[in-house]
Amino acid sequence: MRIIVMDNYDEMSKKAALMIASQVMLKPNSVLGLATGDTPIGMYKELTKLYNKRDIDFKEVRTFNLDEYYGINHENHQSYYYFMNANLFNNINIVRENIYMPNGMEKDVNTSCNEYETKIKELGGIDMQVLGIGGNGHIGFNEPNVNFEAETHLVNLEEETIKANSRFFKSINDVPVKAISMGIKTIMNSKKIILLASGLNKAKAIERAVNGKINPNIPASILQLHNDVTIILDKEAASSL
Ligand code: F6R
Repeated sequence: MRIIVMDNYDEMSKKAALMIASQVMLKPNSVLGLATGDTPIGMYKELTKLYNKRDIDFKEVRTFNLDEYYGINHENHQSYYYFMNANLFNNINIVRENIYMPNGMEKDVNTSCNEYETKIKELGGIDMQVLGIGGNGHIGFNEPNVNFEAETHLVNLEEETIKANSRFFKSINDVPVKAISMGIKTIMNSKKIILLASGLNKAKAIERAVNGKINPNIPASILQLHNDVTIILDKEAASSL
């Protein structure tokens, strides 16, 4: 694991955007794995800036998102599809057909999860996967007591995650209790992984993921076994290391 500690959130975001830009420069048709949440918003802003300066071209890039809430459609402003359009896809020259997201409205969940996995493999696998981390150590929506063998699947969200995500909804009762998420196996099959974390509330999870035993209770700890992981932190997220 390579750990990079930046002074603050903005510097962390810039560093992550530059790593993605380098990846796309070296391989213009890269397959990127993308995350939602507060953490990557600054990185998406930086990527948009780089695109506006013509320093990065998304024309051939393909993307797969880590997760999507189950039971809300793409028009819903809380859907991750909506988030990705607003924070990145609407602002760059990505081709719509090259964007893949789990479908939160799919009735036959197993088939659609299998199709998602097949598509990732068909396109040659994920070249660079971006991850955030939950305060409980989750990655994607792979919650504690995770099955390290799982691929894309339907998950029940932990109470802590529902609480954390309720800040985006009118009331906690509106937060979906299930989501479709890439599994740990899907994530671990990515060629490169960058994990971003910012703020004191992530410090403990980072410390346990990096220095703790590999343990299903801290899903991110499995990343210790991946051979190309870069963790980009601000000072606060790094404060327990
Ligand atoms: C989002 C995702 C989640 C978040 C994590 C941190 O696609 O997969 O694992 O990365 O919950 O969320 P934030 O960045 O909002 O603290």
